[in-house]
Amino acid sequence: MTTLALQTDPLAPPLLDAQGRRMTYLRLSITDRCNFRCAYCSPASWGGKKDLLDAPELGRIAALFASMGIRRVRLTGGEPLIRPDILDIAGRISRIPGIQHLAITTNASHLASLAVPLREAGVDQLNISLDTLSPETFRRISKQGDLAAVLRGIDAAAGAGYASLKLNVVVMRGVNDHEVRALVEHAHARSIVPRFIELMPFGQGTPVPTAELVSRLRDEGLPLSPEPEEPGASAESLSSGPARYWRAATGRVGFISPLTQNFCGGCNRVRVASNGDLRSCLGGRAQAPLHQLIRGGASDTELARAIRQALGDKPEGHRFTEPGNGATLLPMMGIGG
Ligand code: GTP
Ligand code: 5AD
Ligand code: SF4
Repeated sequence: MTTLALQTDPLAPPLLDAQGRRMTYLRLSITDRCNFRCAYCSPASWGGKKDLLDAPELGRIAALFASMGIRRVRLTGGEPLIRPDILDIAGRISRIPGIQHLAITTNASHLASLAVPLREAGVDQLNISLDTLSPETFRRISKQGDLAAVLRGIDAAAGAGYASLKLNVVVMRGVNDHEVRALVEHAHARSIVPRFIELMPFGQGTPVPTAELVSRLRDEGLPLSPEPEEPGASAESLSSGPARYWRAATGRVGFISPLTQNFCGGCNRVRVASNGDLRSCLGGRAQAPLHQLIRGGASDTELARAIRQALGDKPEGHRFTEPGNGATLLPMMGIGG
């Protein structure tokens, strides 16, 4: 008999997947719209869907997951801060018993005005996407973004008392790979941890392997030494995440290496896409149509059963490195990374 079959109350923790990994981290995509159009994330044809979960539905889903053992929620998008009800959503989720951390991943374009109110609404961790410090390259990557507004947003976040601030840099060969050192300096000057991400095959661009970036930083005068794994950092721990951290003289530097250092064995996460579909894996399609079930009047127990069933099909890991796999994925924009 499998561990899943042993579960008698579908609402009670632990929330396990098909591989017996314990799910403690929920990534909730609250919109598939974005005010930028980064080619690695959003296909030109992606128009945005209308059937988004509303704030009470998002609160209900987060509370349900909390009752099943989720301890950390991250709001993603698209760009989550373009939702007019973002403070209502954040406030509802941060007050749910059992949720120890509420995080957001954002492009920072709205942070100049929202950094402080979001902190007051209970958000304690922000991951900010910034791929370049050059206005021309920024325009080339984001198509519509305003670098000055983003930099103002980052400075506002740095002064707003967050427990954790990280800068996400998707590294693309020939586009921004020469800027890694400057981005480390920009982040460390604001006590932010920069993280360099290997581009996953959701759109255009060529990835740069982590090992190459570590050598590059050393050659440019910033030697790094690997940080020991945090004691207790396991699939079940809240600190477990895709990034591996190194230490430089000026602070920590993270690398997220889905292509060259697969981290799926430690997976602790489950996703709800912006249309309300549960997605058990970023690189997979196993899902439960939560929004549809809610609209059909499903009880919490019925929703919990559907969630457990979808996690029963969660794959061991992604297959990004297999040729042609990118073509079968949904756009990053609606899944939230
Ligand atoms: P922390 O928990 O703060 O470390 O954040 P995070 O890395 O989980 O989240 P974030 O939204 O900042 O994502 C950073 C990068 O990691 C993005 O490129 C995501 O697509 C990628 N990422 C996040 N979770 C997963 C995952 O489960 N699998 C894979 N392959 N990539 C992931
Ligand atoms: N590969 C890796 N990371 C990506 N992101 C968006 N698209 C990709 C991709 N194709 C990142 C964003 C953001 C996070 C949610 O995912 O830069 O920081
Ligand atoms: Fe987990 Fe899938 Fe991400 Fe791997 S790709 S870490 S299995 S969600």
